[in-house]
Amino acid sequence: LGRIALVACGTSWHAALVAKRWFEEIAGVPTEVDIASEFRYRNPIMGGDTLCIVISQSGETADTLEGLRRARASFVNALGFVNVEDSTIGRESDDAIPLLAGPEIGVASTKAYLAQLTNLYLFAVQLARAKHRLSETDAAGCIQGLRALPSALAACLERRDLAFDIAQRYASASNFIFLGRGYNVPTAMEAALKLKEISYIHATAYPAGEFKHGPIALIDPQTPTVALIPNDSTFSRMASNIEEIRARKGRIIAVTTDSAPNVEALSDSILRVPDIAEPLLPLLLIVPLQLFAYRIAVLRGCEVDMPRNLAKSVTVE
Ligand code: G6P
Repeated sequence: LGRIALVACGTSWHAALVAKRWFEEIAGVPTEVDIASEFRYRNPIMGGDTLCIVISQSGETADTLEGLRRARASFVNALGFVNVEDSTIGRESDDAIPLLAGPEIGVASTKAYLAQLTNLYLFAVQLARAKHRLSETDAAGCIQGLRALPSALAACLERRDLAFDIAQRYASASNFIFLGRGYNVPTAMEAALKLKEISYIHATAYPAGEFKHGPIALIDPQTPTVALIPNDSTFSRMASNIEEIRARKGRIIAVTTDSAPNVEALSDSILRVPDIAEPLLPLLLIVPLQLFAYRIAVLRGCEVDMPRNLAKSVTVE
């Protein structure tokens, strides 16, 4: 295996963005990510050593399915990560990994996203073992990290009242900005998408280092910024990004980990999750932001499970 090409839409595409980092950093496999509706109409360079991975909760998304067919027509092996195993993508892939999240009812994907990430992480670790990039001990350490997840997720849910209180404070905002770095960039994008999908509030997500190249002009006291600033390798750079926003009178909702120091001094509101290994942060930091989006949607009288204009599975182009 020389390369991986990840193809997906929507929330599944955000899972692919996280997986790219895992595949490259843990397994050492060069990986690219495409939005399926773009992948199917460009001429991706895929040789026999490429594995195409398609990710889809429903297994029926038209663009993702066509991306899969495109890859297979080029004699590239295709692996599907699907929640609905008996779906078109599940059947047409050379191999399929079932996500086992159980039926997902709400249109906005939440639990399937966590199941996608979990399975993609396991795949990255297994790939690294197979390529002798990870020793058995280090691989066991990665799995051990994952075992910390259920109790950490339970803690996030126990703290939901805090996310709900903060949602109450910001529910009337018309625009939100979401910023993160490294592993937390896809989380910022997914959190912004959740807010847009279910509360109809405009939200834009940026890698924090890119924010100064234009979007920082959006900052004013009415436009809150959700800043992902866990105690990881991005902490001090995120802290200076936050200072730049505060200097322009922007309000900050910080989403951080228990051990992060002095975040109170940097922010107007703060949400904390338990500490976990940096590569696993995407599985945890999204949860308070799912709860935040949910509460804002409820407060604004939106139909959370069935948002306007959206479908659970988009089977047309
Ligand atoms: C629709 C849904 C999204 C979902 C996307 C991809 O747009 O509203 O929530 O992320 O399709 O769906 P899939 O089933 O392929 O993961």
